[in-house]
Amino acid sequence: MTDKETHLANLEQIQKDALAALADVADADALEAWRVAHLGRSSAVMGVFSSMGTLDKELRPLMGKTANEVRQALEGALEEKRQLMEADALKQALETEKLDVTLPGRPVTRGRLHPLTQVLRRIIQIFGDMGFQVYPSPEVETDDYNFTYLNMPPYHPARDMWDTFYTKQEGVLLRTHTSPGQIRVMRARAPEPIRVILPGATMRYEQLSARSEIEFAQVEVLVVGERVSFAELKGTLDDFARRLFGEEARTRLRPSHFPFTEPSAEFDVGCFVCEGEGCPVCKETGWLEILGCGMVHPVVLEYGGYDPAVYSGFAAGMGIDRSTLMRYRIDDIRHFRNNDVRFLRQF
Ligand code: PHE
Repeated sequence: MTDKETHLANLEQIQKDALAALADVADADALEAWRVAHLGRSSAVMGVFSSMGTLDKELRPLMGKTANEVRQALEGALEEKRQLMEADALKQALETEKLDVTLPGRPVTRGRLHPLTQVLRRIIQIFGDMGFQVYPSPEVETDDYNFTYLNMPPYHPARDMWDTFYTKQEGVLLRTHTSPGQIRVMRARAPEPIRVILPGATMRYEQLSARSEIEFAQVEVLVVGERVSFAELKGTLDDFARRLFGEEARTRLRPSHFPFTEPSAEFDVGCFVCEGEGCPVCKETGWLEILGCGMVHPVVLEYGGYDPAVYSGFAAGMGIDRSTLMRYRIDDIRHFRNNDVRFLRQF
């Protein structure tokens, strides 16, 4: 064998050995080890390049060219192997991690509206169907709007029924009912006829009650126009009660007193918790008072900018908590603000 033949055979062997070793490579680590061993600086092909100087001059071009071809062949084989292995890995992943789109999904826990919110929305919807608008009014009020304009001048004893929280600012307080909103709508609308409800938070200083009773929600109802009658008040409330509580709802009006209505009444619904038999919710009476109402007092109409000789109106103010008790037949008002999900989940 000539020198040339020996060197070429050597290169051929290098390539054969490397490719044979590559065939056994099974994972990424082994592939990297193979690259270092067969293409790295101390690999056999690279050895051929660095020993080029020891070769005969006329052999060098051919040997250089051939060694280059071997290196390129090995690099090509490496790349091919790498792609093959990636494709295999993907195929395997697709098989083992197969996605079954027909499996039931993981349940998502969904929140829901608080029963008080649901009933408030229902109340708004019912009055909306009857042609009422929702009129927003402030929760922080002046003494004048909360009391004086509602026919309770300073030092009037009726103010005691609505003790409240006063602010450091003289004459500014947290409203004890939604009724001051009556004056605000009237002043904004006079002399136009009015048919609105005013929902919102109200606050009272209740020394003996649980904390939850300090703040509660009310919905005020106000109708003002020419020849608005008590019969319309009764009809509106009866209709409302049947829509909120169901056709079987029993209702009654009881004479009462409010400084801002004359005559005044309280509106009761037959207790749904005990079906009228008597229970703690209705204090054994079979009836639950859900709102106060009456014909708007002439003094109030005047403060609102309406001439009581021409205009009349009716007003009502209801607590949402009690209506919610009745609507869902709940036996204790304290459940509403306990935030017990087992309770809330039922609505
Ligand atoms: N504002 C009264 C209350 O909170 C309820 C009411 C409103 C009574 C409108 C009559 C007319 O007790």
